[in-house]
Amino acid sequence: NQERTFIAVKPDGVQRALVGEIIKRFEARGYKLVGLKLTVPSKALAGKHYADLKGKPFFNGLVDYMTNGKAPVVAMVWEGKDVIRQGRRMLGATNPLESAPGTIRADFCTAIGRNIIHGSDSYESALKEITLWFNENELADWVSAN
Ligand code: CMP
Repeated sequence: NQERTFIAVKPDGVQRALVGEIIKRFEARGYKLVGLKLTVPSKALAGKHYADLKGKPFFNGLVDYMTNGKAPVVAMVWEGKDVIRQGRRMLGATNPLESAPGTIRADFCTAIGRNIIHGSDSYESALKEITLWFNENELADWVSAN
Protein backbone atom coordinates (compact mmCIF):
# COMPACT_ATOMS: atom_id res chain seq x y z
CA ASN A 1 0.00 0.00 0.00
CA GLN A 2 1.41 3.31 -1.17
CA GLU A 3 1.19 5.84 1.63
CA ARG A 4 2.96 8.87 3.06
CA THR A 5 4.56 9.49 6.42
CA PHE A 6 6.04 12.48 8.22
CA ILE A 7 9.66 12.13 9.30
CA ALA A 8 11.57 14.93 11.07
CA VAL A 9 15.24 15.15 11.90
CA LYS A 10 15.12 16.98 15.22
CA PRO A 11 17.53 19.78 16.18
CA ASP A 12 19.98 17.36 17.81
CA GLY A 13 20.09 15.26 14.64
CA VAL A 14 20.79 18.37 12.58
CA GLN A 15 23.50 19.50 15.04
CA ARG A 16 25.12 16.10 14.81
CA ALA A 17 25.12 16.24 10.99
CA LEU A 18 22.91 13.16 10.59
CA VAL A 19 20.59 14.61 7.93
CA GLY A 20 22.42 12.96 5.02
CA GLU A 21 22.69 9.62 6.80
CA ILE A 22 18.95 9.58 7.50
CA ILE A 23 17.93 10.61 3.98
CA LYS A 24 20.35 8.01 2.62
CA ARG A 25 18.65 5.19 4.56
CA PHE A 26 15.16 6.08 3.34
CA GLU A 27 16.35 6.54 -0.26
CA ALA A 28 18.30 3.29 -0.19
CA ARG A 29 15.24 1.42 1.02
CA GLY A 30 13.39 2.68 -2.06
CA TYR A 31 11.22 5.33 -0.49
CA LYS A 32 10.42 8.52 -2.35
CA LEU A 33 11.07 11.97 -0.91
CA VAL A 34 8.05 14.15 -1.65
CA GLY A 35 8.48 16.93 0.93
CA LEU A 36 11.59 18.51 2.44
CA LYS A 37 12.29 21.68 4.37
CA LEU A 38 14.57 23.18 7.00
CA THR A 39 12.47 25.06 9.52
CA VAL A 40 12.31 26.33 13.09
CA PRO A 41 8.72 25.50 14.09
CA SER A 42 6.61 27.95 16.09
CA LYS A 43 5.57 27.00 19.62
CA ALA A 44 2.02 26.70 18.29
CA LEU A 45 3.09 24.19 15.64
CA ALA A 46 5.21 22.15 18.06
CA GLY A 47 2.36 22.21 20.60
CA LYS A 48 -0.08 20.86 18.01
CA HIS A 49 2.44 18.30 16.79
CA TYR A 50 2.91 17.00 20.35
CA ALA A 51 -0.68 17.66 21.53
CA ASP A 52 -0.98 14.07 22.78
CA LEU A 53 1.87 14.72 25.23
CA LYS A 54 0.40 17.83 26.88
CA GLY A 55 0.54 17.22 30.62
CA LYS A 56 3.68 15.07 30.49
CA PRO A 57 6.49 16.39 32.69
CA PHE A 58 8.81 16.72 29.69
CA PHE A 59 6.27 18.51 27.43
CA ASN A 60 7.51 22.09 27.95
CA GLY A 61 11.15 21.07 27.63
CA LEU A 62 10.36 19.14 24.46
CA VAL A 63 8.54 22.08 22.85
CA ASP A 64 11.32 24.51 23.85
CA TYR A 65 13.98 22.22 22.46
CA MET A 66 12.14 21.85 19.13
CA THR A 67 11.45 25.59 18.79
CA ASN A 68 14.35 27.50 20.38
CA GLY A 69 16.17 27.87 17.08
CA LYS A 70 19.59 26.68 18.25
CA ALA A 71 19.19 24.39 15.27
CA PRO A 72 16.29 23.87 12.87
CA VAL A 73 14.23 20.76 12.19
CA VAL A 74 14.45 18.99 8.83
CA ALA A 75 10.84 18.15 8.06
CA MET A 76 10.22 15.48 5.43
CA VAL A 77 7.43 13.54 3.80
CA TRP A 78 8.34 10.08 2.50
CA GLU A 79 6.13 7.96 0.26
CA GLY A 80 6.05 4.25 -0.50
CA LYS A 81 4.80 0.82 0.42
CA ASP A 82 3.99 0.51 4.13
CA VAL A 83 6.24 3.52 4.80
CA ILE A 84 4.46 4.53 8.02
CA ARG A 85 5.18 1.22 9.76
CA GLN A 86 8.51 0.61 8.05
CA GLY A 87 9.66 4.15 8.87
CA ARG A 88 8.98 3.50 12.54
CA ARG A 89 10.93 0.25 12.31
CA MET A 90 13.85 2.07 10.68
CA LEU A 91 13.82 4.67 13.50
CA GLY A 92 13.70 2.11 16.30
CA ALA A 93 11.98 2.42 19.68
CA THR A 94 11.40 5.92 21.11
CA ASN A 95 13.81 5.15 23.92
CA PRO A 96 17.13 4.60 22.12
CA LEU A 97 18.21 2.16 24.82
CA GLU A 98 15.31 -0.06 23.72
CA SER A 99 15.97 0.39 19.98
CA ALA A 100 17.20 -2.63 18.07
CA PRO A 101 20.81 -2.39 16.84
CA GLY A 102 20.85 -1.25 13.22
CA THR A 103 18.00 1.19 13.70
CA ILE A 104 18.69 4.92 13.38
CA ARG A 105 18.24 5.65 17.08
CA ALA A 106 20.24 2.66 18.30
CA ASP A 107 23.04 3.50 15.92
CA PHE A 108 23.33 7.19 16.81
CA CYS A 109 21.93 8.05 20.25
CA THR A 110 21.20 6.95 23.81
CA ALA A 111 18.92 9.65 25.35
CA ILE A 112 15.11 9.55 25.01
CA GLY A 113 14.98 13.35 25.14
CA ARG A 114 17.58 13.58 22.36
CA ASN A 115 16.51 10.77 20.07
CA ILE A 116 17.37 12.72 16.85
CA ILE A 117 14.34 11.79 14.75
CA HIS A 118 10.56 11.63 14.76
CA GLY A 119 8.26 9.45 12.66
CA SER A 120 4.46 9.28 12.48
CA ASP A 121 3.09 6.34 14.48
CA SER A 122 -0.14 5.71 12.51
CA TYR A 123 -2.04 6.65 9.37
CA GLU A 124 -4.03 9.24 11.34
CA SER A 125 -0.86 10.79 12.83
CA ALA A 126 0.82 10.87 9.42
CA LEU A 127 -2.13 12.72 7.89
CA LYS A 128 -2.28 15.16 10.81
CA GLU A 129 1.46 15.80 10.88
CA ILE A 130 1.90 16.19 7.11
CA THR A 131 -0.96 18.70 7.10
CA LEU A 132 0.51 20.59 10.05
CA TRP A 133 4.04 20.90 8.68
CA PHE A 134 3.43 21.23 4.93
CA ASN A 135 1.21 23.10 2.55
CA GLU A 136 -0.19 21.04 -0.31
CA ASN A 137 1.91 23.01 -2.84
CA GLU A 138 5.11 22.08 -0.98
CA LEU A 139 4.62 18.38 -1.74
CA ALA A 140 6.10 17.16 -5.00
CA ASP A 141 4.41 14.50 -7.10
CA TRP A 142 7.14 13.05 -9.28
CA VAL A 143 7.91 9.90 -11.26
CA SER A 144 10.72 7.65 -10.07
CA ALA A 145 13.07 6.07 -12.58
CA ASN A 146 11.93 2.52 -11.87
P1 CMP B 1 9.07 11.41 19.37
O1 CMP B 1 9.11 10.18 18.51
O2 CMP B 1 9.25 12.71 18.68
O3 CMP B 1 7.69 11.43 20.15
C1 CMP B 1 7.53 12.08 21.38
C2 CMP B 1 8.82 12.60 21.92
O4 CMP B 1 8.81 12.95 23.29
C3 CMP B 1 9.85 11.52 21.83
O5 CMP B 1 10.19 11.27 20.50
C4 CMP B 1 10.94 12.06 22.73
O6 CMP B 1 11.77 12.99 22.07
C5 CMP B 1 10.12 12.79 23.78
N1 CMP B 1 10.05 12.02 25.00
C6 CMP B 1 9.35 10.91 25.22
N2 CMP B 1 9.52 10.46 26.46
C7 CMP B 1 10.39 11.32 27.05
C8 CMP B 1 10.97 11.40 28.34
N3 CMP B 1 10.70 10.49 29.29
N4 CMP B 1 11.81 12.42 28.57
C9 CMP B 1 12.09 13.33 27.63
N5 CMP B 1 11.56 13.29 26.39
C10 CMP B 1 10.72 12.31 26.11
